[in-house]
Order: sequence, then C-alpha cells, then structure tokens
Amino acid sequence: MASKLKMYGVWSLVLLASLLSQSADAAAVISIDLGSEWLKIGIVSPGVPMEIVLNKESKRKTPAVVAFRDGVRTFGEDAVTVGVRFPKNSYKYVLDLLGKPYNHPLVQAYKERFPYYEIVESERGTPEFVHDESTRFTPEELVAQFLAKAKDFAEINHGTQISECVITVPGYFNQAERRAMKEAAALAGLNVLQLINDYTAIAINYGIFRRKEINETPWQALFFDMGAGSTKAALVEYKNVKIKDRGYVETVPQLQVLGVAYDRTLGGVEITLRLREHLIKAWEAQGGGDVRASPRAMEKLLREAERLKIVLSANTEHYAQIESLLDDKDFKLLVSRAELEELCSDLWARVSSVLSRAAAAGGASASARLVLAGGAARAPAVLAALKDQGYEPSRSINADEAVAMGAVYRAASLATGYKVAALNVKDAVLFPIQVVFTRHVDGADKLIKRTLFSPMNPYPQKKVITFNKHTDDFSFHVNYAELDHIPPTELLNIGSLNLTQVVLTGVGAALNKHTGDNVEHKGIKAHFNMDDSGVLNLVNVEFVAEKTVTEEEDKDSTLSKLGSTISKLFGSDSETPEKPEEKPEEKAPETEKNDTAKANETTAEKQNATDSDSKPKPKVVVLKEPIKTDEQVLVLQPLSSDQFKTSKAKISELDTIDRKRAERESALNTLEAFVVDAQMKMDMEEFAECGTPEEIEEVRKLCSETSEWLYDDGYEAPTEMYEEKLAVIKEKTNPIFYKHWEHRERPDAVAALRSMLNTSNEFLKSAKNFTPEVNPEKDMFTQVEITVLEKKIDETKSWLDKSIKEQDELKKNEEIKLTIDSIREKMANLDREVKYLVNKMKIWRPKKPVKKETDNKTEETIIEGKEGEKVEETQEEKPATEEIPEQEKQTEDSGGETSEVPQLADGNDEHSEL
Ligand SMILES: *[C@@H]1O[C@H](CO)[C@@H](O)[C@H](O)[C@H]1NC(C)=O
Ligand SMILES: *[C@@H]1O[C@H](CO)[C@@H](O)[C@H](O)[C@H]1NC(C)=O
Ligand SMILES: *[C@@H]1O[C@H](CO)[C@@H](O)[C@H](O)[C@H]1NC(C)=O
Ligand SMILES: *[C@@H]1O[C@H](CO)[C@@H](O)[C@H](O)[C@H]1NC(C)=O
Ligand SMILES: *[C@@H]1O[C@H](CO)[C@@H](O)[C@H](O)[C@H]1NC(C)=O
Ligand SMILES: *[C@@H]1O[C@H](CO)[C@@H](O)[C@H](O)[C@H]1NC(C)=O
Repeated sequence: MASKLKMYGVWSLVLLASLLSQSADAAAVISIDLGSEWLKIGIVSPGVPMEIVLNKESKRKTPAVVAFRDGVRTFGEDAVTVGVRFPKNSYKYVLDLLGKPYNHPLVQAYKERFPYYEIVESERGTPEFVHDESTRFTPEELVAQFLAKAKDFAEINHGTQISECVITVPGYFNQAERRAMKEAAALAGLNVLQLINDYTAIAINYGIFRRKEINETPWQALFFDMGAGSTKAALVEYKNVKIKDRGYVETVPQLQVLGVAYDRTLGGVEITLRLREHLIKAWEAQGGGDVRASPRAMEKLLREAERLKIVLSANTEHYAQIESLLDDKDFKLLVSRAELEELCSDLWARVSSVLSRAAAAGGASASARLVLAGGAARAPAVLAALKDQGYEPSRSINADEAVAMGAVYRAASLATGYKVAALNVKDAVLFPIQVVFTRHVDGADKLIKRTLFSPMNPYPQKKVITFNKHTDDFSFHVNYAELDHIPPTELLNIGSLNLTQVVLTGVGAALNKHTGDNVEHKGIKAHFNMDDSGVLNLVNVEFVAEKTVTEEEDKDSTLSKLGSTISKLFGSDSETPEKPEEKPEEKAPETEKNDTAKANETTAEKQNATDSDSKPKPKVVVLKEPIKTDEQVLVLQPLSSDQFKTSKAKISELDTIDRKRAERESALNTLEAFVVDAQMKMDMEEFAECGTPEEIEEVRKLCSETSEWLYDDGYEAPTEMYEEKLAVIKEKTNPIFYKHWEHRERPDAVAALRSMLNTSNEFLKSAKNFTPEVNPEKDMFTQVEITVLEKKIDETKSWLDKSIKEQDELKKNEEIKLTIDSIREKMANLDREVKYLVNKMKIWRPKKPVKKETDNKTEETIIEGKEGEKVEETQEEKPATEEIPEQEKQTEDSGGETSEVPQLADGNDEHSEL
C-alpha cells in the first residue's frame, strides 16, 4: 500500500510539472534617484527583495553624465572619460537645469560654472545646449536619456521589461520643475507612479527598518542631506495612526513631514569649485599661464579639486598634483584641511542654518534624532557645524542609497501585485498656494486672496474653493502665496509666483439653468488636487445648487433625476445631500480634508429647515453644472505635443544608433567567438569523430578564412555580413555538433527511459491487484487496461534493447539510429498510458457503501488520495501577490524544481540552435 501511495504522488508531480515554471503576475518596478552627480536605481521584482540595480560595470551608482563623441553616445564612467578630453561633449549636472526658464539664476550660475558649453534660450524659453550645427539638447531631453538609461540597466540586469517607476526629486522642486521631470519620464517611455521628495524617500527608508519602534508615542527624526548640488533638511514625525480602510479601522505606522528647509546652492560642488579656484590662483601665482582659457585644463583642475576634497575629509593635508596641466607644465601644491575650511568659511554657517530652519519649521523636540545622508555631509567641518546645533549626528542609514531604497519601497506599494508592510506617508507642501481674484465692491475692484495650501499642509490632498458672489464669467489666478518662511536668497530660485490663470465661461447660463422656487445657489466650486507627486491639478469647476423637495415631488421630479445624474458624473467629492439641520457655521466644507482654505464669502444666513415646516419631510437634492474652464500656464510652458514629438524623435534616433551599434558589436563578437570555438572543437577527438575527415577539414578551412577576414577589412563590416558568414560556417558545423550532442545525451536519455520502465513496471504490478477479477471491491482497472499497459512496457523495452544494439554497431559519424527524439517519443507514449490509469485511480469511488467497517475506513484514506492533493496544493501555493520582506531577508529559493520523476534534459542550447 505504502509504495502505491508514494507512486501516486510521484505521478501527480509529472502531471503538474508543466505548471511549475509559471511566474507571478506582478511586473518589476524601479525607483530612479537622479541627482546632480549620480544616478542610482532601486528595483523590486516578484520573489526578489528590494535591491539596488548594478550598472554595466557592476557598480551601484553611475555618474549622471552623458557624452557624444564620433557619433557614439556614452553614459556614466565612459562619458566622464570623454568629458576629461572633450568637456563640451559631455553633459553633467543637467538636473540643475530642469524645468527652469533661461533667465533663471541657477541657469545663469551654471553657465558661469561651465563656460565651455554653448547654452542658448530655446523657443519655449528654456535653456538649450548647442551640441553641433544640427543638434541641440534641452535639459528635459538629457534627463530623459538618463531615465531611459536607468530603465535599460534594470532591464539588462534583471532580464525583464520595466515600464513603471517612482522618480525622486529634490523636495524644493516647484510646480514647473516637477512637471518637467514628468515630461522627461514620458520622453523616456516610463510611466511615473509618483515623484517622491528625496527627504521623504529617506524618511521611508529609515522608517521601514524601524517599524517596531513606531508606536502610539510620536517621535521625531531630522534628516540632513547634503549632496553635490544642494542641501536639504526635513523634520519627520513617526507614530501609529488609526486609519479606516474598507470599513475596518487599522493601526498603521505613519510618517509625516513636519518641517523642511533647504539651500539650493550649498553642496559638495560648491566646495570643489572653491578649492579649484584656490588651485587656479596658486597656478597663476606660479606663473603657469592662462589656465582659465583651456576647458581641458579647467576640467583636470576640477577633477583634482574633487579628489583633494575627499582626501582632506580624512587627512589634514595633501598634495594636489596634475601632470602637464598646461603647455606640458606640471602642477603641484600642498593644501591643508584648515585652508579648505577657511576657503569655505561662509558655507558652514549655511549648513547650520538649513538644519535649524527645518527644526524650527516643524517644531523639533529636544529628543529629535539627527540622521545624515548625502555624500557631502561627510566633511568634518559639516559635522562640526551640525554638532554646534546640539545634535549628535548618526549615520544609521546607507547615506548613498537611502533615497533610492525608500523610493523603491514606495514603488512596490503603488504597483500592482506586491504586498508591502504598511507605512502611511504624509508629505508636506513647501510652497503655499493661493487663489487670487478680483471682486467689485462698491464700484471698486478689490483683490481677494484665498489660501489653498498653507506651508506644511499635508498632501496628497484635495481642496475646494467656492465662489459665491459671481453671477457671470470671471477668472482667477492660482499663485504661490506668501513665502516668508523661504530665505530671500532662495526666492529668486522659485521664479514667477503666478502659476496659472483660469478663465471660466458659461457661469451665467449655469446659474439660470438652476433657478426657481426651492433652489438655493451654493456657488461656483473649483476642485483642486495636490497629487502624490506634489503637482497641483485643477480637477474641475462646477456650479452647485440645492433644491429642496418634498418626498412626493422627489419621486417624479425630472429635474432632481437630472440633478442626481449630474452629481454622479461630477461628484468626485463626498458632498452628498447636505443635512438641512446643519448649523450655518458648518455648512459646505470648503476643503475636503481641512477647512483652512475656507472661501469666506457667504454672508447670507442659511434657512434653518426645521423652522419652516412640520409638513412632509423635505429632502435636499444637489444640482451640479460643469463650468467650462480655460487654464493657462503662466510659468514655464509645458511641452506642446509637437515639441514632445520632436524631442521623442531625437531621443529615439539616438537609441536606434545605440541599438544598431550594439547589434553590430554583438554580431561581430558572436562570429569571432564561434570561429574560435569551432576551431578548438575540430581539434578535439570527441567532435572530430562525429564528421568525416573531409567535413572536418572543410570547417577548419572556413574558420581560418573567416578569422583572417575579421582581422583584415572584416572588422569594419556591417552587421549582415557577420550574420552571413556565421550562417555559412554553421551550415557545416551543425551536422557535426548535432551528432556530438546525440552521442553525449544518449546515455542519460536511455537511463531515463529505463528508469521510467522500471517505475511503470512497479505500477503495473500493484495495478494488477485492482481488477474486478482480483479485487471485486476495488475494481479500478479492467483486465484490458492492464494488458495494454503490459504490452506497452514490453514493446518499449524490446525497442530500446534492439535500438541500442543497432546504434552500437554504427560509427560516430554515421547517421544516428537511436535519436534522443525517438527516446523522448517512447517516453511520452508510456507516460500517456500510465497517466491514464493513474487518473482512473484518482476518480475511482466504491460503487456502494462497503460492508466491513474497518475496510471502509482504510480505503477512504487511500482512495481520497490525500497525498496527491497535497502535492497540488504546494504547487499552487505561490501567492498572486508577492510579499516583500525587508531588505535583509532573503526570500526562499523558489527554484528547487527537481523531482524524482524521470526527465529528459530539455532545451539544450546546442540542440535548439539546429
Ligand atoms: C499674477 O497674479 C497677480 C495676482 O493675481 C495678477 O495681478 C497679475 O496680473 C498676474 N500676472 C500675470 C502675468 O498673469
Ligand atoms: C433650528 O435652529 C434653532 C436655532 O435657530 C436650533 O436650536 C435648532 O437646533 C435648529 N434645528 C435644527 C434641526 O438644526
Ligand atoms: C487644519 O488647519 C488647521 C488650522 O490652520 C491646522 O492647524 C491643521 O494642521 C490643519 N490640519 C490638516 C490635517 O490639514
Ligand atoms: C470671514 O470674514 C469675516 C469678515 O468678513 C472675518 O472676520 C473672518 O475672520 C473671516 N474668516 C475666515 C476664516 O477667513
Ligand atoms: C528498479 O527499481 C528497483 C526498486 O525501486 C531498484 O532496486 C532497481 O535497481 C531499479 N532498476 C533500474 C534498472 O532502475
Ligand atoms: C464508513 O466510514 C465512515 C466514516 O469513516 C463511517 O461513518 C461509516 O459508518 C462507515 N461505513 C460502514 C458501512 O462501515
């Protein structure tokens, strides 16, 4: 009995073998942390914990540099190399230019820092690099190329298609800059699940590893992130909150950004540039010549200054040294850390300022932890400045990767198919937003301002502004509001304070449409949404009125039916019929989550419904009428669809060139490798004996000809030529390689078939006990079925024995008699027969209740085939949603698909090539 049960399980495994390789539904998603200097990528894919994507040099970060030279585009280290010799051909720090008008102070500062670029104003008013006579690049186009490269790295590294991502942005990115990042992503063919503020991503990364520390008692962390281009600090609070989800109240850990401060020009680059200036002055003092006029020399100095800066973090003095800096003259200078700190003396105060402003903005508690991120925060003087503020800096996160890792956690939460440990994230509005409009009061125009989002308002959030005084078409501006909390030096970097102008038409008609007894006008409501990405959207504008109807009236009032239809169409908010008993102060919630942005225009007292009647219960029907809006962007214009197409085409062309080059290189490499491999094999006995001497000689000749050709002019040949040459050689090698493969695989295949015969035989033996003749109570199989199987086994066995004998008499280079395919076919036939019987056994049930109690019980256990079902369960256990464990946890190896079932080696590479 036991052996039968075991066999049952084994055969079920065979049945299920084809299901084993199915993968989960979830697609891999990535995070892209594109900074001024570095590109880092996080990835999460089914069954794999979140991790950093390696680039083609197997590094965890890639210089954010792209270069074009001799028609070849390069990224990362390769581009840096090009940049040393041809600075103008390599583009770097491009993130600093994204989403800004040409006259932006940071664009002008960039031009001064890197005078060798030719930067002009584009038609759209953005900066644009003049690359050569026919090519120009906008910051969006360059950023798009980095994003596409990130996608590329992830796809190559993980062998999977990527389309969705979370992209990090500096928290101080304004509306135009965020929009530009989204446009760049669209150019790169990426679907952005969310733009996430860099400090928020760090806070997420910090929080997910400290979920156990998050409880009802709030605690704070101050994240200080000093990178290459800028410095940011954010005060974040962690605590458990109760949130309602699908009717359940759940306790979920939450992080909320309470205070933010930043300095857009304080970063590692600034220190490097000052150090370079120091080196230049020393060079000039040594009478070294006009180094400033040589971009190449300036670039060498910049790299040396960067190296020096890093060394001086750990050493008190070091030599700057450059061979043949200019006109073959070398440069050497001893620089001390004290000198460096003196050069940057004004910067350290700015470090303290960013930290203290963030702490003050959010009301930091004395116990707030200070956590450091970003490369530049390592400098001793920076640490000293932070300690002066009374904090003990901690390096409890991976300063380099916290942003990308936090963002990829976010990506997994947003993508479909992943189950991640909950962490509620509340970001905060840095630049407040208001709605501004004019109203005629006593014959004069009065400018009215209503705050939409105050500083540090949490988002994502929806808000509604109600205009109750307008009876005709009007317009309003959406502007940044008072920015008193932003240092004056940063105000210019925010740019124009006007965001959009919205012109409303059809207001009068909408009002007239809903007029009459029992109709009360509630005003024009403009619905805004600050989305996850911190981008403000005007969702819709509608006129709202309320009609009071009695129950009867309600039943057949077409107007109310129309009204409810309209509210279904436009009722994105939950302002369903207001209860008449509401007090005037509590009427129309002006914001959907908070009431700070109350448009305080209503003066009319609302009727207290219960005063007026004790008759049939009145009911309020909300009537909504969409208002046509024309929204004009007043800051940097978004890409028009034509501009988008042009940029997209430009990038596609570069991609095509890259792809063609890669294809050609790959074809060349394949051919070279094949020739070398074939030559080697022809010298090996085991291959040589699989062909006639003439055949082997022919391959040898072809190989050496091709090899010579490659060495000569073949190196410059087009892709197709390589492919043709390869096909010609393969035509000759394939029969030889095929025979070799057959001879090599045969022993295993024969063993597999023998083992299958053996198992089938054992099955047959036990099956014989379950025929009506032998065992009337358990008549699973008919005698005919038993005979058929027996015959099949005998047939197969004698075929195998005969074929082996025939094959053994043949020479290795003769046509194969006993092929793998023929063995495979025999196995399939036998398998089919056995499976048929196994299946019968599975569905077999006793015809009627059996008399003997004991028998009944034992049978039940066997026949229900518990073991068989168990096997099925384990196969299907793979969850549709992947549990993403914390980073350190390794998910269990889902491989291990080895079964004791006889199997033939499938999908052999050499074979599938034939
Ligand atoms: C900017 O907004 C203010 C306030 O609404 C308005 O007076 C001004 O005309 C706007 N500027 C532009 C260029 O629209
Ligand atoms: C009607 O108004 C009175 C006072 O004006 C108030 O006390 C009463 O609660 C109101 N009724 C309802 C149902 O709100
Ligand atoms: C709501 O507004 C009040 C008053 O301005 C403010 O203190 C509070 O933080 C806001 N809460 C939310 C959730 O926006
Ligand atoms: C509403 O307006 C009144 C006077 O018109 C003013 O006293 C009150 O502070 C305003 N309330 C809000 C929330 O703006
Ligand atoms: C057949 O199976 C039996 C028991 O399972 C084993 O002892 C025997 O070696 C097997 N024979 C072959 C040829 O696999
Ligand atoms: C068969 O087994 C079941 C449960 O194991 C028991 O309830 C039933 O009485 C048995 N039938 C007979 C005929 O013994």
